[in-house]
Amino acid sequence: MFNLILFGPPGSGKGTQSEKLVEKYKLIHLSTGNLLREEIANRTPLGLEAKSFMDKGQLVPDEVVIGMIDSCLEHHKEAAGFLFDGFPRTAAQADALDKLLNLKKTEISLLLALDVTEQELVSRLLNRGKTSGRSDDTDEAVIRKRFSVYTNETSPVADYYKKARKFKSIHGEGSVDEINAALRQAIDKAMATHKN
Ligand code: AP5
Repeated sequence: MFNLILFGPPGSGKGTQSEKLVEKYKLIHLSTGNLLREEIANRTPLGLEAKSFMDKGQLVPDEVVIGMIDSCLEHHKEAAGFLFDGFPRTAAQADALDKLLNLKKTEISLLLALDVTEQELVSRLLNRGKTSGRSDDTDEAVIRKRFSVYTNETSPVADYYKKARKFKSIHGEGSVDEINAALRQAIDKAMATHKN
């Protein structure tokens, strides 16, 4: 299996690039943000709980997202690999992911981190907020809160993968195609030496 994490702050292009990469490499796309928004749209108890955190720009509790990832991995036993988008976002999530993949006798192969300036991120998110219907994109204070959560709780997760020599930073500004080409180059290189 080849298991990839697409990492980066809110608005860095994880969702946009994931769609292209899963098609190219036949990976299963696991976006915790999308899964949570589906729960909200279906008005499930989990969705209602998650919405109260998401609307404020806070993280949903670890046990909720870890449970979602666990059941998705179970649903895709024959997958060639997974692309994790927006997960893991805390040290506890990274630890849980390792354990879940271990049970499947596999591991994370590579983490690609999209590097984008905060000014560009704010502009992308406010722009998307005009049409997306995402309540966390319309208020700049909530967007700033998401950045501070990312800095304090999520960015340290990268160190975990740096130590394991699985981390690669990718310049995340420019056209979607240019960034996609840089991501593909890094993935192809990692796949060429991939063992499990
Ligand atoms: P989530 O859905 O994961 O959102 P996010 O991380 O805030 O990321 P976004 O979807 O906003 O951005 P993206 O990096 O995917 O960029 P995109 O491609 O969309 O999480 C939402 C919330 O859910 C969290 O705040 C939290 O509450 C909760 N949550 C989710 N996962 C969780 C977890 N694991 N643990 C706890 N809580 C969790 O692009 C953004 C915009 O930019 C788009 O309009 C796009 O068209 C545009 N764009 C993309 N690329 C370019 C480019 N190259 N140039 C110009 N514009 C571009």
